[in-house]
Amino acid sequence: MIGIIGGTGIYEMAEYGRLERRESLITPYGKTPEISVFKLHGRRVAFIPRHSPGHDKPPHMVNYRANIWALKELGVRQIIATNAVGSLKRSIGPGDFVVPHDFLDFTRSRPSTFYDEKTVHVDMTEPYCRNIRSALSGSSGVVDGGVYVCTEGPRFETPAEIRMFQTLGGTVVGMTGLPEAVLARELEMCYASICLVSNYAASISPSKLTIDEVFEIMDEKKNDLIDIIDAAIRD
Ligand code: HPA
Repeated sequence: MIGIIGGTGIYEMAEYGRLERRESLITPYGKTPEISVFKLHGRRVAFIPRHSPGHDKPPHMVNYRANIWALKELGVRQIIATNAVGSLKRSIGPGDFVVPHDFLDFTRSRPSTFYDEKTVHVDMTEPYCRNIRSALSGSSGVVDGGVYVCTEGPRFETPAEIRMFQTLGGTVVGMTGLPEAVLARELEMCYASICLVSNYAASISPSKLTIDEVFEIMDEKKNDLIDIIDAAIRD
């Protein structure tokens, strides 16, 4: 089974396949948003809206452990996540897609592991799944590779932070990619992300950032994003 974690602007996907069921799972970490299980291109897919329908949960309040635990429990082995991001590079602009190959984790107040009672250090030499990355990068207009910087949010960044992230080699900046990628690795699931650039990061962008422009681009590009995921699953 394939898991899809829908980020900002993607709250439902079952209409693209044949719906089998919808359910919220109770996990040791709490209850998940409603997950829809459907058939697409002969594969079973479990879709979970990361922020819950209606974008109820801001990035720092998402129950990442419950979401990942539930997908594992449903039998998911491979996860495609979508993330809205700001671009740290002038050459990558709003509307572009990026499939990151590495990350920098600047989150600070989120439960970030399943292993609080046991000493486990997962390997992160290759943080994102090569197979899913290559399936996602097959569509035209997708930038293959980049460094995803995850901030705690929910505020946007300062100009000095953006300069720091650029100096450190960041490509895009978002608030939801971590600890999700790490939790998936801890439960031995293959995980990759397709990022949609909604804006130039603060201070690169000439105007003040608003969440409205993020939603606007997500809306505009939603169908392209779904097509990329659809092609990756068909692969
Ligand atoms: N910064 C952080 N997260 C984001 C951004 C941004 O500029 N755009 C969309 N998510």
